[in-house]
Amino acid sequence: MSIRFIEQTKTFKLDSKTSTYMFGIFEGNYLVHYYYGAPIPDEDVTELRFRPNFASFCPDSPTAMVQNFSPDVTPLEYSTFGTGDFRLSAFAVENSDGNKVTDLRYVSHKIYKGKEPIPGMPSLYLNNEDEADTLEIVTEDKATGVRATLIYTVFNDYGAITRRVKVENPTDKPFYIDTIHSACVDFPGKDYEMLDLYGRWVKERALERYPLHRGIQSIKSKRGSSSHNHNPFTAIISKGTTEDYGDCYGFNLVYSSNFSIDVEVDAFASTRLVMGINPDGFKWYLEPGEEFYSPEAVMVYTNQGLGEMSRIFHRLYGNNLIRGQWKKAKRPLLINNWEGTGMDFDHDKLVSFAHHAKDIGLEMLVMDDGWFGKRDDDKSSLGDWKVAEYKLQKGLSGLIKEVNNCGLKFGIWFEPEMISPDSDIYREHPDWCLHTEGRDKSIARTQYVIDYSRKEVREHIYGMMHDILSSNNIDYVKWDFNRNLTEVSCAQLPKERQGEVFHRFVLGTYESMDRLTKDFPHILLENCSGGGGRFDPGMLYYSPQIWTSDNTDPIERLTIQFGTSLCYPTSTMGAHVSASRRAGYETKMNVALWGSFGYELDPDKLTAEEKAEITAQIALYHKYYDVIHYGDLYRLITPFEDAFRVAWEHVSEDKNEALVTVVQMRHPYDEFFMLKLKGLDPEKVYVEQESGKKYSGAYLMNAGLNLTYKPNGDGASFRIHLIAE
Ligand code: DGJ
Repeated sequence: MSIRFIEQTKTFKLDSKTSTYMFGIFEGNYLVHYYYGAPIPDEDVTELRFRPNFASFCPDSPTAMVQNFSPDVTPLEYSTFGTGDFRLSAFAVENSDGNKVTDLRYVSHKIYKGKEPIPGMPSLYLNNEDEADTLEIVTEDKATGVRATLIYTVFNDYGAITRRVKVENPTDKPFYIDTIHSACVDFPGKDYEMLDLYGRWVKERALERYPLHRGIQSIKSKRGSSSHNHNPFTAIISKGTTEDYGDCYGFNLVYSSNFSIDVEVDAFASTRLVMGINPDGFKWYLEPGEEFYSPEAVMVYTNQGLGEMSRIFHRLYGNNLIRGQWKKAKRPLLINNWEGTGMDFDHDKLVSFAHHAKDIGLEMLVMDDGWFGKRDDDKSSLGDWKVAEYKLQKGLSGLIKEVNNCGLKFGIWFEPEMISPDSDIYREHPDWCLHTEGRDKSIARTQYVIDYSRKEVREHIYGMMHDILSSNNIDYVKWDFNRNLTEVSCAQLPKERQGEVFHRFVLGTYESMDRLTKDFPHILLENCSGGGGRFDPGMLYYSPQIWTSDNTDPIERLTIQFGTSLCYPTSTMGAHVSASRRAGYETKMNVALWGSFGYELDPDKLTAEEKAEITAQIALYHKYYDVIHYGDLYRLITPFEDAFRVAWEHVSEDKNEALVTVVQMRHPYDEFFMLKLKGLDPEKVYVEQESGKKYSGAYLMNAGLNLTYKPNGDGASFRIHLIAE
C-alpha cells in the first residue's frame, strides 16, 4: 500500500514514486501537515510542525493546550476560517446562525485500494485498481455538525497525488459552503519561486516566474471558464530550479470554471497554498442530507526540475485522464476550413477542399463555423443548429457523402453554450440566456451565453446536436466557447442558490459533453474556446485534444506550445499549419508536428510547389508520429530563456529513437551553437538519419552536437532524427 497510518505517531504517510507526503492527527484532533517532498523512510516527523509563535497575537487552541501550538502558526492540513488561523482559509461555511466560524477536526479515516469517480465531474481514473490507493479522512465541525471528507489518492507509478473534498450536511439545518478549496499545502520557509501560465486571446499560456513575497499572490478566474488569462496551474519551485534540477511542486485543478490559487507567505516565513473553486461569486446552499463535491486537485512533486515535472503530468494525463477510443489511437490528419474561408463557403467550395485535401494526403475535413441558421458572419444564428441549405445546397448528408466519397472523414463545429440575439431560438426563448432581471445584458462577439445550469435548456440544445450527429456520418466535433459569462444569475433558482450558478453551469457543460462522448464514442471531440481559453484538465477528460490557440504563426506559437507543455501532453495540443506568412512551410510544419497536427488553410490557393511540399510533410508526419505522440518531451532551449532560438526533443519510451527540432526565431549572427541532448541512453549508439553519422548517447548528452553551420536565418528550422543501432 502506498498509503499507511503509522499508529505510534498518528501519522499518515503517502508514498508515491518520487514523493512522500505526511500529516497526522495532533492534540485536539487537529490535522497537522508535516512534510511534502522527496521520499523519506518511516520516521517520526512530528517535530517538523514547529514554527515561531507570538503568544498574544497567535491564539492558543483551548482543545490543544500544547506549548508552541497555535492554529495561526501550525502547518494545518486543511485550514478553516475564524478559529485562530488568520492565514488563508481552505474551507469555511456560513452556518444557520449566519456566521462563518468553522473548525474541522479529525473524526475517522479509511484507506483502500483504487479510486472513486466524482459524481458529475471530471477526475483522474484508474485503468486497474492496483494503480492507486486512496485515503479518506472524515472531519467534522462539532458546533454545527458540518462534515467534510478529505480524499487523497496516490498514483503508485507517478509522483502524483490527487486531492478533493466531499461536504455533507448530516444536520437538520441548511448551511452555505462559502469557501471550499480542493487542496491546501503548507511549506516550510519562504524561499520559493512561483511559476504560472498567463495569457490572453492569441497569446495563451506564457510563462511567468517570480520569487514569492510576503503577503498573498494569486491567480484566478471569474470568467466562468478556466480562461486564456490564467491557467489553473501553478508550480512552487525552489530558487534557481531549471529544466533538470530543483524541487518542483506542480498543482493543476481539474476544473473548467472559476478557480483560484492563492499562495501566502506569512510574517513568520511560512508558505501556504490553497487551490480550488474561486470563492468570489460562489456560495453553495446545502440542505440537510445533501452532499457537495469539490473539483479534483492534482499535485506532482519531483526534485528533478521542471522537465521531469512536466513528464510526470504528461504520463499521468495520457494514462489516467484522457479517455475513450482516441486515448492512444492515432488521430486523423485533418484540414479545417476556418482560416481558409471563414464563413464564406458553400457545398462546392467544401467539396473542392476535400478533393485537394485528399490529393495531398489528408484524412478528414472539418467544417468550422458558418454552416447553420443564417450564419454569414458572427452576428447571428448561434443556437439554431439546423443546416443552412442556402450554403450547403445538398444538405449536410449530401455534403458528407461527397466528402466521404473522396476518401475523407468529416468533422463539424458547434458552439453549444451560446445564443445569438438574432436567432430563432432567442426570439422564441429570450429568457434562456444568462441574464439578471432589471439589468442590461453584456454582449460579446454579438452573442449571449445560454444558461447551461438549466436542464431543459441544455436538453434542447443537446437534442439538436444529437439529431445532426445521429443522422450523419460525423467522426469529429469541435466544441467552441467564444465568450465569458456575465450577468450570472438563474431565473429558476431561489435567491439562496444564486451563488451556485457558475458551478451549476460548468456541471451542465460537463453533463452534455459526457452524453456526447457516451452516445457517440467513435467521435473525436476537440475543445476550443477562441483558441485555448479552456485548456484545462476538466476539458481533457472529455476531449483528448484542445485547439491550443487561434494564433497559428509558427514563431508566436512557440511560447504558446512551450507554456502549454508545462503540464499538458503533446497529443492534447491541437496544432495546425496555416497560410501565415512569417515562416516557410518547413518551419510551420516543424512547429505544428509538436501537437495534434493538421492544416488550416485553403488548399485551392496552394501553388503546385506548396502542394508537393505539404505532401512530403505528411509523409514525415507519419514517420515521426510515434516518437512525438508516445515519447517523452525534453525542452532543450525555451523561448522564455532564449530570445533567438528554441529547441525541443521527443525521445521514445525505450530510448531507441529521438527527434530534435530547432527553430531560429531571430538570427543570432553566427553565434557558436552547441546543443546537448537529453533523455538518451548513454550506452547506446545513435545514427543520425540524414547524415548517417554515429554518436554515443553519452556524447550527445555530454558533449552535444555542434550545430553552428545548420540553417540559421530568421524563422529557419531543422530536425535531427536519431535511431539507436
Ligand atoms: C474560435 C476558434 O478558435 C476558431 O478556430 C474558429 O472555430 C472560430 N471560433 C469560429 O467562430
